[in-house]
Amino acid sequence: MITINTRAGNAEKQRNDAVVLPLFTGRKLTPSGEKMQQATENWLTKYLRRFDNDGDFGKIQTIYTADNDVIMPERIILLGVGDEKKLTLNTLRQLAAIVARALNTGGARDISLALSELPIKGTTIGDRSRAIAEGVWLGLYTFDKYKTKTEKNQRALRQITLLIESRSQLDEVNQAIEIARATANGVCFARDLANEPGNICTPAYLGDQAAALANDKLQIEVMDQAAIKQLGLTALLAVNQGSAHEARFIVLRYQGGNDGDAPIALVGKGLTFDSGGVSIKPAGKMEEMKFDMCGSAAVLGIFKAVTELKLTCNLLGVIPSTENMAGAGAYKPGDIITAYNGTTIEVQNTDAEGRLILADALSYAAKQKPSLIIDFATLTGACVVALGCHASGLLGNNAKLIKSLHACGDATHDRVWPLPMHEEYQEQIKSDIADIKNVGGREAGTITAACFLSRFVDELPWAHLDIAGTAWNMKGSNISAKGGTGAGVRLVLDYLQRSCSDHS
Ligand code: BES
Ligand code: MN
Ligand code: ZN
Repeated sequence: MITINTRAGNAEKQRNDAVVLPLFTGRKLTPSGEKMQQATENWLTKYLRRFDNDGDFGKIQTIYTADNDVIMPERIILLGVGDEKKLTLNTLRQLAAIVARALNTGGARDISLALSELPIKGTTIGDRSRAIAEGVWLGLYTFDKYKTKTEKNQRALRQITLLIESRSQLDEVNQAIEIARATANGVCFARDLANEPGNICTPAYLGDQAAALANDKLQIEVMDQAAIKQLGLTALLAVNQGSAHEARFIVLRYQGGNDGDAPIALVGKGLTFDSGGVSIKPAGKMEEMKFDMCGSAAVLGIFKAVTELKLTCNLLGVIPSTENMAGAGAYKPGDIITAYNGTTIEVQNTDAEGRLILADALSYAAKQKPSLIIDFATLTGACVVALGCHASGLLGNNAKLIKSLHACGDATHDRVWPLPMHEEYQEQIKSDIADIKNVGGREAGTITAACFLSRFVDELPWAHLDIAGTAWNMKGSNISAKGGTGAGVRLVLDYLQRSCSDHS
């Protein structure tokens, strides 16, 4: 990750390759820009007048300063930030990503950003600096380890300095950047895991990646096939039957809080490739099913960030991991399996496998008596239809938890939208021959999948995040390259930060 520094000082006095100054719609400058105007007797004005840029959001214009003796940086880069009233932390995060990406291939390598001063109602300079740092790091993320022929970018940015008006703000800003660093590390770790192809990112690989996170506060247990059998995770084993790769069951225990305090449990679907099994999927876009482990990637990303932030709470992570393949021994439609908590399940479609492995994982988590459970899963195509890629589905059995997560989603822009779980929907998963069946018909597919999961959480407060539409994006966005997005990491990290500080 590129280095981000902070410095208190004026834009015109920075001896570096470029200073980025915001420009509002109507060619209006911010205080840094105005100061520069004063110091240079309106030198900028002649450029502003001839501008092809009215301050439109994300537009970038470079001015070389060789003819000016007062301005120290070699370039002034005007960044259109649009309508002053429409700025939010999210648009600021996007602007930082846009400018970092644009300058990453230019001649300027050591740049300063005078963006923290942008006015956004109800925010501190720490909030804004954090959003900027997140935008830079998330925006510059790439996954190119399998490209053997691309030349190294000779003009890549070397360092970015956030310019701050006064020294007294430096502590607050530096702290905010440390939070952004841990957050971005967590998100990018989740993206790396997501982007690995299914032949590399197997259940064993996920286990190894988890094990590497261990430290004095974080204990990792990776159960192999034999241990899974001994524990009796029958539903996970059923889904694994058609695969040539062994399953893994990964348990993470983070002790950052008081001994004996019940942990918050995070459970993530770790399906390293979902072919659908015997109820096989159509060939089109099937390659995207390597992303079916994004729930587990989110959990691992969160644990990585939590250890960096040294959060003062206890956490339990549970990841069931397998492929879903149609090998000779594969489980079949009609099979009945018994989950870890004793519930019997009639399999009507082997492609509804995520809920099966989660049945065991949620039962296991519930048995550890956590204070609450949050699960992450690329669970249903129906959720992609309902919400597209702009919000994850949010379901559960506890209004308070759902409300909190909804608020965290808005705050981080890792957004969620609630779907109902009225009792009547449970009817759809009744089986004639077992306790429940693993499909609930065409209607309300995301809800009936959540109804299925609800049978395995005892009466504990529980929220389910269906990240099927948000966990990857083949078009990419301002803050995410094509592929894994790390959805869920910023959201739940924010939730944990808030609930941990409540306790202390
Ligand atoms: N991993 C898929 C869900 C999915 C589909 C995520 C498309 C992202 C994009 C899941 O295992 C699945 O196949 N679900 C089925 C359930 C159905 C058989 C009840 C689905 O959504 O079609
Ligand atoms: Mn499936
Ligand atoms: Zn799946």
